Amino acid sequence: MTGSLTFLGIESSCDDTAAAVIRHAPGLPAQILASVVEGQTALHAAFGGVVPEIAARAHAERLDHCVEQALAESGVTLADLDGIAVTAGPGLIGGVLSGVMLARGLSMATGLPIVGVNHLAGHALTPRLTDQLAFPYLMLLVSGGHCQFLIVHSEQRFERLGGTIDDAPGEAFDKTAKLLGLNQPGGPAVQTEATLGDAKRFAFPRPLLDRPGCDMSFSGLKTALLRARDAVMAEKGGLTVQDRRDLCAGFQAAVADVLAEKTRRALEVYAALNPEQPALAVAGGVAANTAVRARLETVCAQAGVSFLAPPLRLCTDNAAMIAWAGIERFRAGDYSPADLVARPRWPLDATAAPLLGSGKKGAKA
Ligand code: KG4
Ligand code: ZN
Repeated sequence: MTGSLTFLGIESSCDDTAAAVIRHAPGLPAQILASVVEGQTALHAAFGGVVPEIAARAHAERLDHCVEQALAESGVTLADLDGIAVTAGPGLIGGVLSGVMLARGLSMATGLPIVGVNHLAGHALTPRLTDQLAFPYLMLLVSGGHCQFLIVHSEQRFERLGGTIDDAPGEAFDKTAKLLGLNQPGGPAVQTEATLGDAKRFAFPRPLLDRPGCDMSFSGLKTALLRARDAVMAEKGGLTVQDRRDLCAGFQAAVADVLAEKTRRALEVYAALNPEQPALAVAGGVAANTAVRARLETVCAQAGVSFLAPPLRLCTDNAAMIAWAGIERFRAGDYSPADLVARPRWPLDATAAPLLGSGKKGAKA
């Protein structure tokens, strides 16, 4: 496929209902003609987490509207499209099914081809949508549900170098905030407190740094935080503002240390490929953390590798990345049968050993 392509993207794998339209001509930057994202945070707030049934129902109710809005905003009609890309997994199956069935219905009505996209491939290919990054590059996905290093060799080949064996860092930030009585989502709240805290006051562990490789663990940090908090409370009968700030600063420094050291190791593996334009790209909400980001930038500068962080609205869940991944796959001559199925589990690197932690909850990816 050499000409200009216009794709509709559909995303509904967790708690964001999204539709987007992208146009791309080879050799030119892709144009995001529309990107509509309807979050469901308010619907799940009372439950302290995403409720799959509520999410699926909301996707089924809102997807049509999001698609209509994306088409209207972009000034594109169904007749102008060259294909439909839809998240076919991994994720909460009810939500993924809503998207896949909508895409199948649209395809049947219009004759347009469908590309079933892996949600994680959407994240991993985003630096090519935003910056036309050349293969191979290193990707660090750090969100509320995932944490893994991937070498992105092509639009279809992703090599996992390691990932979390338990919680994702975002999950750990959120739990820390909960334990300290801070607002959700916890990441930004913990970061704000940490700015005014003393990171050295509490000695938090740096899990798995004593072991070789790029696997990570964050659940022990949460337990360490709980113990430190309880010790202070037992001594003083409560937490002062400064106690809270110091706990946040210590926790954040531990996460940043682990991510920085594991990134350094992942870059070593990646460097052996002798990439022409070596680059590390990040995606996921935790990549917004200024302390984490500063450490990653330093590690990259030391290794002579460029550091790339796409704009946050394209780092978190959206349908533009799905439309883009669809275009990349379609150009490579790879699209899905009309009876495309939804997959709750779908590892990007099928050759790597399954990770217990990454995607364990199947919710946020
Ligand atoms: O990528 P994302 O929006 O959703 C998925 O998990 O897919 O990431 C959300 C996670 C939440 O756990 C949130 O607390 C965390 O990213 N987060 C942060 C920051 N901003 C968002 N964590 C640390 N520092 C931040 N500034
Ligand atoms: Zn995601």
